[in-house]
Amino acid sequence: MPVRPTIINVFPLETQLSARKPSVSSAFVNWWREQPDNAGLWLRLERLGGIAREFVHDSLPDRRRERFGDADYDWDYRVDTTSANVGWHARLMGFFSSSYQPIEAEIFREMMNTLAIDFGQFTFVDIGSGKGRALLLASEYPFRRIIGVELLPELNRIAQENIRAFSKARGHEIPAESISGDATGFDFPAEPLVVYFFHPLTEAGFRQVMANLKASLAAQPRPIHIIYANPIFELIVAADKRFRKACGTHQYAIYETLPNVG
Ligand SMILES: C[S@@+](CC[C@H](N)C(=O)[O-])C[C@H]1O[C@@H](n2cnc3c(N)ncnc32)[C@H](O)[C@@H]1O
Repeated sequence: MPVRPTIINVFPLETQLSARKPSVSSAFVNWWREQPDNAGLWLRLERLGGIAREFVHDSLPDRRRERFGDADYDWDYRVDTTSANVGWHARLMGFFSSSYQPIEAEIFREMMNTLAIDFGQFTFVDIGSGKGRALLLASEYPFRRIIGVELLPELNRIAQENIRAFSKARGHEIPAESISGDATGFDFPAEPLVVYFFHPLTEAGFRQVMANLKASLAAQPRPIHIIYANPIFELIVAADKRFRKACGTHQYAIYETLPNVG
């Protein structure tokens, strides 16, 4: 029988993350700082204008109706993971980093089905878990733990409600938890991991999370698989010699640690 790895993190996950509430002003300041050095004042203001225009368009009834196109999963499973009813604060925050959008169930399952692993040995971590659709989908696989980290408390609360409703409908607790905080400060559990990203971060944020993951891997060598949907910053993962690409399409990339890597 396979031996379960010891859980080294002793603090509750919630206490590891900053309790500071994310505000639009701090998201704006980060966005401004992360603009490339060669983007002068006018270019930045132009980009800001583009964000303001896009935000106004995004608030129109037609756009909202369009966003309901992602609600099939919710009808099937009686949960609330659609992007259609997300409030103005979460939508505006999304324009400065990454907008909330739930993963399509078929693509999620396609990505997961590429993993040839003993799921019971692994913990699933969703960086930027939103309303928790990927956490619910991950529970279709026998992971030992499922963890979501979401920046926005209003989305995290809905994810927690979804986990409760989903568990109740199934008649058993799924091993999932969703915590709120900035994932750039998340301390990865020292367990074999499947780390899932659906384009959740700015480039600087993604670099930071990858640096944290690499430091965690160096401290505790173990198998880690990265599932990266909409892999905009894939080059950052590919540049690390500790990971090799297992497979991918134009929609996603899957990486895994090389054997005996730390
Ligand atoms: C494209 S959505 C993905 C949602 C979910 N993972 C899924 O697959 O259904 C990206 C999410 O990342 C969150 N996010 C953005 N920056 C973040 C950060 N620094 N820390 C944690 N979450 C963040 C956004 O609020 C948004 O909910």
